[in-house]
Amino acid sequence: MFRKYLTIMSLFTISFYSLYSQADNIFSSFFGKKPGVAPVEDLLYLEECGVCHFPYQPGLLPAKSWEKMMNNLSLENHFGEDIVFDEQRIRKQLLNYMIVNAADNSSFKRSRKIMKSLSYNDAPLSILKTPYIRRKHSDIPQRLIIQPEVGTLSNCEACHKKASKGNYDDDQVRIPNSKLRYDDGD
Ligand code: HEC
Ligand code: HEC
Repeated sequence: MFRKYLTIMSLFTISFYSLYSQADNIFSSFFGKKPGVAPVEDLLYLEECGVCHFPYQPGLLPAKSWEKMMNNLSLENHFGEDIVFDEQRIRKQLLNYMIVNAADNSSFKRSRKIMKSLSYNDAPLSILKTPYIRRKHSDIPQRLIIQPEVGTLSNCEACHKKASKGNYDDDQVRIPNSKLRYDDGD
């Protein structure tokens, strides 16, 4: 009797748990509940796209942007640099990773907000050109951006201390040499 009871209880627990975690997935893909953007876990991407600057998470731009950036012609002039890949296999592997994790394929909160701020056909090559990101940075005094510790707004990590973890929360922002604190909730 007791054993039967245990079996029923554990079956109940297991099915409740799987329902619960499924519901969690459904919820987060509907409402973008996961905070920040998905952190980069792909070693090839970190190696190839993290040498000259912070390895921007693919969840910061839509797939269309990455496709545009990664075609051979664009790679010849990537913000003034020639970063054409000798091996097409590498280029394709990177692009595939970027598309799968692009903002329009992500349920993370910041990716959803970036997508919401863009029109259907927009494919900016710069994260700072997306309306959401531009708006979030429009009040920062120029002198705090051009100072040596930062240099340019593209240098996300200079102010977002947990940027490499995909965390851009305003309570983790510290602009060097500034006492400004930001906390507007979203
Ligand atoms: C040879 C150096 C170099 C390599 C390698 C490189 N980049 Fe860049 N990238 C730049 C420069 C320079 C800029 C201009 C912004 C800056 O000053 O950091 C830039 C800017 C960007 C921006 C725009 C950032 C913004 O301000 O919104 C993105 C996105 C980007 N790169 C993605 C990539 C990806 C993806 C790869 C790998 C396929 C890559 N980069 C590899 C030099 C490089
Ligand atoms: C000069 C410092 C600085 C740099 C560099 C910078 N940011 Fe920010 N960022 C801020 C500040 C300050 C805020 C908070 C603005 C507010 O809440 O009004 C912010 C807000 C954000 C937010 C919204 C966070 C929230 O909680 O509302 C995102 C997302 C973000 N930044 C992404 C980026 C990315 C991606 C880069 C690099 C391409 C970047 N930032 C570079 C200072 C910076």
